Amino acid sequence: MNPDIERVLFSEEDIHGIVRDLATRVNQDYQGKVPLVVCVLKGAVIFMTDFVRAYKGMLEMDFMDVSSYSGAHSTGEVRILKDLDTSVKGRDVIILEDIVDTGATLQSLTELFEHRGANSVKIVSLFDKPSGRRVVVNVDYVGTSVPDEFIVGYGLDYNEHYRNLPFIGILKPQVYGN
Ligand code: IMP
Ligand code: MG
Repeated sequence: MNPDIERVLFSEEDIHGIVRDLATRVNQDYQGKVPLVVCVLKGAVIFMTDFVRAYKGMLEMDFMDVSSYSGAHSTGEVRILKDLDTSVKGRDVIILEDIVDTGATLQSLTELFEHRGANSVKIVSLFDKPSGRRVVVNVDYVGTSVPDEFIVGYGLDYNEHYRNLPFIGILKPQVYGN
């Protein structure tokens, strides 16, 4: 066990069950469509690889990198660091996100894709931290809610570390100085 982790919130098995359920639900709603699945880098990249393999229909993948975070607190500003390669015009876009906290990231991405002429934009988030919400955003598919604590692992980082942990853990507060 990593010494910076206070406790494990979700094991590898827990996470894989949650991801499979999400993929099945989304799959049922996209019968006959070929959605463009957009991974929000870097946090959602591990989720993406498991999600797309559990999704049995046709889909296309693309990646976008935005930044709203510095350390453990949201700055409320979202910058595009890497844009999509694909045009979203007329497409059914599914945004895959690791966790919704303030909601700022997803609100601005949804608005951006709608502005660019997507046919539909839906959000799939593995985790939801409802206590952090500052803007109204409709998350269409949520894996599970998490408490108001800073979590890492399975793609989620603290200052770029811990993304490679295969489980979700709660970081010891002294690691981020709170
Ligand atoms: P929002 O724009 O405030 O909703 O921030 C969402 C982004 O913040 C996520 O994509 C994560 O990268 C990051 N984030 C929010 N909460 C956590 C956490 O508990 N651990 C790691 N990253 C987090
Ligand atoms: Mg992040």
